[in-house]
Amino acid sequence: MKIAVIGTGYVGLVTGVALSEIGHTVSCIDVDPKKVETLSKGIPTIYEPGLEELMVKNMRENRLSFTSRHKDGLQDAEVVYIAVGTPQREDGSANLDYVEQAARDIAENINRNLIVVIKSTVPVGTNRHIRDLINRHTMKGVQVTIASNPEFLREGSAVKDTFHGDRIVIGTEDQETADHLTEINRPFQIPILKTDIASSEMIKYASNAFLATKISFINEIANICETVGANVEEVARGMGFDHRIGPDFLRAGIGYGGSCFPKDTNALVQLAGNHEHDFNLLKSVIEVNNKQQVILLDKIRNRFDSLAGKKVAVLGLAFKPNTDDLRESPALVMIPKLVELGADVIAYDPIATERAKQVIHVPVSFTENIRDALTGAECAVIITDWPDIKKMDLSTYSRLMKQAIVFDGRNCYSLDAVQEANLEYYSIGRLNKEQAKVG
Ligand code: UGA
Repeated sequence: MKIAVIGTGYVGLVTGVALSEIGHTVSCIDVDPKKVETLSKGIPTIYEPGLEELMVKNMRENRLSFTSRHKDGLQDAEVVYIAVGTPQREDGSANLDYVEQAARDIAENINRNLIVVIKSTVPVGTNRHIRDLINRHTMKGVQVTIASNPEFLREGSAVKDTFHGDRIVIGTEDQETADHLTEINRPFQIPILKTDIASSEMIKYASNAFLATKISFINEIANICETVGANVEEVARGMGFDHRIGPDFLRAGIGYGGSCFPKDTNALVQLAGNHEHDFNLLKSVIEVNNKQQVILLDKIRNRFDSLAGKKVAVLGLAFKPNTDDLRESPALVMIPKLVELGADVIAYDPIATERAKQVIHVPVSFTENIRDALTGAECAVIITDWPDIKKMDLSTYSRLMKQAIVFDGRNCYSLDAVQEANLEYYSIGRLNKEQAKVG
């Protein structure tokens, strides 16, 4: 099948590469010629394990190409995927400008009937709106049909998630389109759920909102655990054995970030509000997360009378490991607050420092060497559970730091290990023996 994909961000690029890997001929279109130039050389514009190999392989086998010209990309396409961003507007709603622009570009550059698939996360009703927009603006006699096909991949494991997903959701209004898309996706060998368009659009928002709810729930439990002397990891383990609850997404920490949960939870609150439904539960999930992102600050303030002139090592900047994405990362909230308290912040991340320099505008130094960050520091603040931070020999803290005081926002270490390494250690929802005695 000949397929065009509009947008080469996380979703678009991974979709294009994956569809070429299962045998389709894919042309990826992006309005940014610089991006297209880089991609055409076989260099991915995002950091994603396993992506480059697949990209290069399928380009070599002539199944994958990149262009900034819609006319070229859409020339032979039988199916067009829209995978452009839907960023958050000031009021929390999803901004559909890029999706609408992609629709106009399709309308102006096709001369026969085809299927348009929306991968971008869009509010209920958008698929129909986009179908009508294209059909209104395209040449006489040409009609597109529309399908909603939401994306469930996670940054950092996007390739793995695409080939080993739990389900593929296809929302259409006619059987023929549903059959076509089933055929396209069959080689993935992932269960396919066919449904109506509105339900498909809602499945995406409801899934992200539910996962965000799980995280805020366990974070609230973690905060209560600290006051009653329970251990949130034990609690989560005990809960997770119940198959109705499940063990995943019950890791307590300093809250969720990224380009999806914060944006999609806000958009769903907004969507509900537009239909006179006050989504109180989800509003609380968001509020809990906003508080959780700065929860370590209270612990730091309780421990130090003043941070003025003190070297503070911030370990990890990305919103989660295996990505250089900083969008809505707790680091973006924590670092300015630490600087405000007078701290001399040195921030470590194995891959996100270049991006961080562009978005962090307070005086901070950056390093890609964890030892530089820790040397002479009065405390360390863990924001991201990068494998190298988790696997580090814990004696490194006491060897390099002025005082081995660690505020761990991701519960990277076991309480036994930190006790053995003699660290002064503060984590989320777990008190060590000393703190429990004081508490
Ligand atoms: C999320 C969803 O997991 C994907 O299914 C979805 O496709 C994607 O959004 C999207 O809508 O595009 P992503 O944002 O890449 O994926 O990252 P996650 O792995 O879900 O993590 C999100 C945040 O939750 C991270 O900050 C992570 O540290 C945090 N998290 C996750 C926790 O604090 N605790 C957990 O137990 C799990």
